[in-house]
Amino acid sequence: MDKIVIEGNVPLVGEVSVSGAKNAALPIIAATLLTDEPCIIKNVPALRDVLTMIKILKSLGVKTSFEAGRLKVEPKYLRQHVADYKFVSTMRASICLLGPLLARLKQARVSMPGGCIIGQRPVDLHLKGLRALGARIKIEHGYIIAEGKTLRGSDIYLGGAYGSSVLATANVMMCAALAKGRTLIENAACEPEVADLADFLNKMGARITGQGTPAVWIEGVRRLGGASHSVIPDRIEAGTHILAAAITGGDLVIRKARREHLSALFDKLSSIGIKIAFLPNGDIRVKRGSRGLRSTDITTLPYPGFPTDMQAQIMALLCVSDGISVITEKIFPDRYMHVSELNRMGADVFLEGASAIIKGQKRMSGAPVMASDLRASAALILAGLVARGKTEVSRVYHLDRGYEKIEEKLAKVGARIKRVKE
Ligand code: UD1
Repeated sequence: MDKIVIEGNVPLVGEVSVSGAKNAALPIIAATLLTDEPCIIKNVPALRDVLTMIKILKSLGVKTSFEAGRLKVEPKYLRQHVADYKFVSTMRASICLLGPLLARLKQARVSMPGGCIIGQRPVDLHLKGLRALGARIKIEHGYIIAEGKTLRGSDIYLGGAYGSSVLATANVMMCAALAKGRTLIENAACEPEVADLADFLNKMGARITGQGTPAVWIEGVRRLGGASHSVIPDRIEAGTHILAAAITGGDLVIRKARREHLSALFDKLSSIGIKIAFLPNGDIRVKRGSRGLRSTDITTLPYPGFPTDMQAQIMALLCVSDGISVITEKIFPDRYMHVSELNRMGADVFLEGASAIIKGQKRMSGAPVMASDLRASAALILAGLVARGKTEVSRVYHLDRGYEKIEEKLAKVGARIKRVKE
């Protein structure tokens, strides 16, 4: 197993380019199953989760070729309707195959994803939405078994205890695209990745409006065709590099990011004391202000609120910001596996229910730490970049699920970081 070794306390200077968004690419790849014509997806990041999704498509009989960020999917020979436990257990996002398989083959059998390290991950909203379209769904032997000869549009309220759901919205949107009549999803997820999926579906011939807002309308069509699409840039990867500049007191230009997807982060960074400049060519320049880093309070919320997928990374920054900060997790209340590892590096964070109270420290010190999940790994790398001495982050397979060549990108801007085989 690989580990990442960092010698910290070096300001990062230079330019970093952001890859395509994992969370947009995964449902878009699943959506190709809605047609029997070839689709071309560009700007696809070469990540472990993407490779898993491609493997699942192959296991369903679909032909694919993936090179230099360009994925060609030929879904003509889709025959299988079963997404096996061996894939779903490694990647929860495979749940987004449920909608397309059901719409195209009139039946789907997708392994129940189960919980994961960041907490409970129920699927009730997915099932509620698909049932509203007329699917019969049961759960047997660990699988979600869905059938629906005739799927019909419907008005669906898709909110749960924690608000909207990204992949439930994706699933219902994909299925409703081929259902008879009109569907209205209320309390739909507004995340840019959901809007990007809708844009791809529209290129395939779907009739979706309102994407990116809480009310999405889908006028069902009889068939969808092949399409070509370029995936939006990864706002979470962009945010992670922005924080790498902020935490090291560096000066980074972030290329190929969409500033409008990062407003909640910029708002918090300006109160912490980070200077953000939007350059005329669309690049984003990040520098630390002259007054040092200040504490702030953050609550994670569905988009356009502060993303839960940036919570661990911004905690690393707050660990070295003056004063006391409070983070409250409103999406995944247990998503705090990184706290004890950050504390091993000299942070002072304590948990009180779904909130973390962070007492800013003058410095952190490098230590061997263990990554527990994808975004926690990124937080430990950020902490390692500012810590004095050597940090070794093990279990980096989590990192490889969501960050394309992160150590190469950071090394290019001056980080003393390398990947070593354990
Ligand atoms: C997606 C992202 C993940 C991100 C999350 C929240 C992908 C591949 N993954 O995951 O990176 O952290 O959005 O922004 O896009 N919930 C229910 N019932 C359901 C489904 C969800 O109660 O049926 C709850 C969840 O437990 C959570 C909240 O709704 O508290 C939001 O989860 P959701 O948006 O569904 O997350 P994912 O789509 O799985």
